[in-house]
Order: sequence, then structure tokens, then C-alpha cells
Amino acid sequence: MTAEKRDIAVKAVIITEFGAEPLLTDIPVPQPGPGELLVRLHAAGLNPFDWKVAEGALKGVAEHEFPLVMGSDGAGVVADVGPGVTRFRPGDTVYGQFMDVRHGRGSYAEYVLTVEDGKVARMPDGLPFSVAAALPTAGATAYQAIEAARLDTGHVILINGASGGVGQSAIQFAALQGARVLATATSDIADHLRDLGADRTIDFTSAPTAEQVLAAHPDGIDAVLDLITHPGGDIDTLAGLLRPGGTFISTNYATDPEGLAAREIHGVNLANDPSREELEALAALTAAGRLRITIDAEIPLDDAPAAVTRARSGHARGKTVILP
Ligand SMILES: NC(=O)c1ccc[n+]([C@@H]2O[C@H](COP(=O)([O-])OP(=O)(O)OC[C@H]3O[C@@H](n4cnc5c(N)ncnc54)[C@H](OP(=O)(O)O)[C@@H]3O)[C@@H](O)[C@H]2O)c1
Repeated sequence: MTAEKRDIAVKAVIITEFGAEPLLTDIPVPQPGPGELLVRLHAAGLNPFDWKVAEGALKGVAEHEFPLVMGSDGAGVVADVGPGVTRFRPGDTVYGQFMDVRHGRGSYAEYVLTVEDGKVARMPDGLPFSVAAALPTAGATAYQAIEAARLDTGHVILINGASGGVGQSAIQFAALQGARVLATATSDIADHLRDLGADRTIDFTSAPTAEQVLAAHPDGIDAVLDLITHPGGDIDTLAGLLRPGGTFISTNYATDPEGLAAREIHGVNLANDPSREELEALAALTAAGRLRITIDAEIPLDDAPAAVTRARSGHARGKTVILP
């Protein structure tokens, strides 16, 4: 490193080991190396994956560097580029997924380093940073899940866990395909989910979801997007709602595709993996007002540790956005 190439000290929310409480602190961030961008983040989106990773969800899957900056999703302005970067320039507004556990990098920070070939895309004019930061993980997961559902006009899909970040976008993508959406919701958010495109809401606190769906659709439905059940949980009850040829998608690796195939059900364990083109398309759709993102709360970076604690206890009604 030359004398000019010094680290900068930035505020970030880190964990020092798996399971540690998130901590706001100063960390050094080096200037970008070959192929890297330094992004000044203006907003970071909170996802359940962030605190699951902090608890060790990727332990054994990838090496982690500690201190590990929490968070994946973010939006901001390119502050500097390293040698060989051709796709981005300082001043570009960008958004995407910035989590890189191998290098301890994440989006709950004032600045983040990323690689130009990473999951980062330019933002369209007019899209606020907070909305862009709310998009990458939830929006891409919803989009890819609805693609996996292979819906046709008039098909019926149950979205289990529809009131959160993924669910609200998934309702809109399914409705855009001409499907009829059954969305689980408590009464406080039912009107909003119908406004987003749900055909019908199901209050899962008044009677079991499957019973209510079966009463309305005794011949079965075409797809289930399950955002709730975790591995080892009961997926049979919801999978039992599907017609032969139907699709069951889990975002929590709860399905057993082989077991479901024996019942003529297509099982998918979805891991979101948006391409740059998909990120650009999501942002364009949102900027054009065709995908509506509900921001539940906007909070300063100092409050991010408390927001993580709140997120762990559930009850999301949209996206929490951190403003570093
Ligand atoms: N595999 C992937 O690539 C991927 C990507 C994104 C997300 N995910 C996972 O997908 C899940 C959803 O993500 P998200 O970002 O949408 O989470 P979220 O924003 O926290 O939303 C979850 C929603 O589910 C509701 N809920 C909880 N228990 C329920 C139940 N029994 N029946 C119906 N609704 C219920 C919650 O509200 P109440 O608590 O008030 O009921 C909340 O509104 C998470 O487990 C996340 O880790 C996976």
C-alpha cells in the first residue's frame, strides 16, 4: 500500500463471533483493490438472513472473517474504484447485495467494499435509496419464487407468510401473472395485502391456514409459497392442498423435493441468486411504480442493533431500512 492508500475509519454494525450481540463501532475499510468498488451507503435493508448469518447459518458453508459487518442489502454512491474497474465510476448510484462473510463485509455500515462483478447494479433515476435498499433480497426472492411456481392465468397460489418483505412482493408478482393469490394475514394488514393484489386474505390466527384454503378450494390449488416452515416442520399439511402437478416452494429449505415428486408435486428449495440483469429489472419495475415496496421503519445506524433484536421477534409489516 502506498502512503496515499490509507484505510478509512467508518461506522459499522458488527459481530465479533457467531451468536454475539450486534455492536456499533468504528472499523477500518481499505481503499478498493483491483476490480473493487468502495460504496458510500445511504441505506441498508434488513432481512431475516442478516441475523441468521450472525447466528451461524453459514457456519461450515463459508469461512467467516471477524469482526463481521452485518447485512446484505444496500444502496449508495460509488466513492472510489480500484484498478481495472470498467463498469462503474465514482458518483454512480448503485444498489445490491453486499454481504461477503469471507472478508467480513456487509451493508450495515457507512461504506462497504465490493467487487464490480458482484451483485451490484446501477440504480434508475428517481428511485430513493431507502426503497432500493429494501429491494434486493426480498424482491429477488419473491420474483424467483413466483417464476419457480410456473403460474398461469387463473392459477391459485397460497402465500404463507405474506405480510413480510418477501410475501408483499410475491403477491404482486403472482398477481402480475394473472394468478389468484391467497395471502395469510392478520386483520391489521389484510386490507393492504388485498390492495397489493391478493384475491383473498387468510387470518391464520382464527383457524388453521390449510383448513381455510381447503374449505374454499376443495379440489386443490396450484402452488404454495411457504415462507414460514423451517426444516423439520410440517410441510405435509400445506403440500396436501396441492393438485397433482402443483408446486411447493420453500424459502427455508423445508421441502423434500424427492418425497414430493413421489406425490406428483414439484418441490423447490429456493435460494435467491439475482443476476445483475434481474437487479436492474427489479429496480426499473419499482421506479416505474409497478412493484410497490412498503417501508415499515427507517432508522439510523445507531439503532440497527435494537432493530435486529426486534426483527428476531417477528411481526414485520414490510421492510426495515437503516440509514447509515
Ligand atoms: N432462501 C432465500 O433465498 C431467502 C430469501 C429471503 C428470505 N428468506 C426466508 O424467508 C422467510 C421470509 O422472509 P421475509 O423477509 O419475508 O421475512 P419477514 O419480513 O420477517 O416476514 C415474515 C412474515 O411472516 C409472518 N408470519 C409469522 N408467522 C406466521 C405464520 N405462522 N403464518 C403466517 N404468517 C406468519 C410475520 O408476521 P407475524 O410475526 O406478525 O405473524 C411476518 O410478517 C424468512 O424465514 C427468511 O429467512 C429466504
